[in-house]
Amino acid sequence: MTERRKLIAGNWKMNGLKADGLDLASDLAGRLKGAGPVVFDMLVCPPFPLLFPVGEAIADSPLALGAQDCAPKTSGAHTGDVAPTMLTDAGCRYVILGHSERRADHGESDSVVNAKAVAAHRAGLIAIICVGETEAQRDAGQADAVVAGQLAGSIPAGASAANTVIAYEPVWAIGTGKTATPDDVKAMHAHIRAQLEGRIADANKVRILYGGSVKPSNAAELMAVDNVDGALVGGAALKADDFWAIGTSCR
Ligand code: 13P
Repeated sequence: MTERRKLIAGNWKMNGLKADGLDLASDLAGRLKGAGPVVFDMLVCPPFPLLFPVGEAIADSPLALGAQDCAPKTSGAHTGDVAPTMLTDAGCRYVILGHSERRADHGESDSVVNAKAVAAHRAGLIAIICVGETEAQRDAGQADAVVAGQLAGSIPAGASAANTVIAYEPVWAIGTGKTATPDDVKAMHAHIRAQLEGRIADANKVRILYGGSVKPSNAAELMAVDNVDGALVGGAALKADDFWAIGTSCR
């Protein structure tokens, strides 16, 4: 079996001011530095204004920095947008793309996500491309088809295990306290892996994260599921103790 190092990613969403973000990131960076060798990579994705201060605070630690979105363009007259090179300038290695909240709030289509991933790759960022079905789609038996369509539309040519991570986040499990069962997660992650074969040369090395109400009490069980290569965490990523506990639940 291919060894894929787990990635524990915190999506802070639209939460926290500078002092909160610095406290949280410095706390996690300190724990990572003090922990010695760990079996997971840890990543925090603060809101845009916090990227520079947080990036500076964690620069000499193994804690990685990511953003929650980027523009599909490199520069120019695009008011309110943030270019991928601005993210790398702030110290980012990762960028979350196509989160269901962006797809819902900003009408982001698969082709927009694809264009953003191309721009992110060009800047040397690792794109975390999010997919996931709604509750209505799952109830209608469409979950596999919806996710296959999102993957086909959102993953750009040139994607590889080195520059792309997939996050499966069932929309109905986000912020609801409901998690998919380990069996459902296992089936969906196997389905995603199969979709990646043929699309990405080293598909067996691509990390596939699970997201949706991951917390310390369910993390060990979810992280032990086949083809689950880490977590994309929202609410529980805002508390250092909880987020750290999710990381250390990885075996
Ligand atoms: P919660 O962990 O709060 O359910 O959020 C998941 C998520 O959307 C991470 O991107």
